[in-house]
Amino acid sequence: MDKYAFSLLLLLVFLLSVSGLMTTGQPGGLHSVRLVCNETLMLQRLPLCGEEFEDLMKRLDTKKWCNLTEFIMFYDSFSNCTEFEANNVGCFWPNPLAEGFITSIHKQFFSNCTSERIVWEDPPDEILITLILIPVFLTAGMISLVVWCSKRSDILV
Ligand SMILES: *[C@@H]1O[C@H](CO)[C@@H](O)[C@H](O)[C@H]1NC(C)=O
Ligand SMILES: *[C@@H]1O[C@H](CO)[C@@H](O)[C@H](O)[C@H]1NC(C)=O
Ligand SMILES: *[C@@H]1O[C@H](CO)[C@@H](O)[C@H](O)[C@H]1NC(C)=O
Repeated sequence: MDKYAFSLLLLLVFLLSVSGLMTTGQPGGLHSVRLVCNETLMLQRLPLCGEEFEDLMKRLDTKKWCNLTEFIMFYDSFSNCTEFEANNVGCFWPNPLAEGFITSIHKQFFSNCTSERIVWEDPPDEILITLILIPVFLTAGMISLVVWCSKRSDILV
């Protein structure tokens, strides 16, 4: 995929996420309860994501563990899982502790991948586009839901 288009899409995702944060972060909004990051709890939850990733990777021939195209879907779900668990206990994502955990997972699975053997090239476009568009649609959906809910409460009040 064209690197320029890819950066534009990333920017779009970023902007949508920020506007999503601002919409939901308003005082009196749906998420007015502000969680404080509980790092202990986060470090307890993250290994669940690691186990899920390990289960998926074990189904794959170990020879394919260095081929990004083969495991990018698993890796994406692992990454989303860590983000979800971190946010769920009120932590920003990424954060240094979560990154430490992710690095330990990298060591576990990719320690034998030399830089020539690991294929960190662009995965096929269709996969990339799917991975990029899912969060865009989710965020857009959440924004419309919040807007819809606030309009609804205006009507009701
Ligand atoms: C954080 O989570 C741990 C483990 O569940 C719990 O024992 C602790 O009380 C929590 N700390 C705060 C500040 O909520
Ligand atoms: C990586 O996996 C893809 C999809 O199975 C395959 O087309 C490609 O040839 C593999 N690359 C290497 C270096 O093995
Ligand atoms: C890396 O190679 C060593 C020695 O061959 C092996 O014992 C180990 O299981 C391998 N680790 C991974 C993640 O493939």
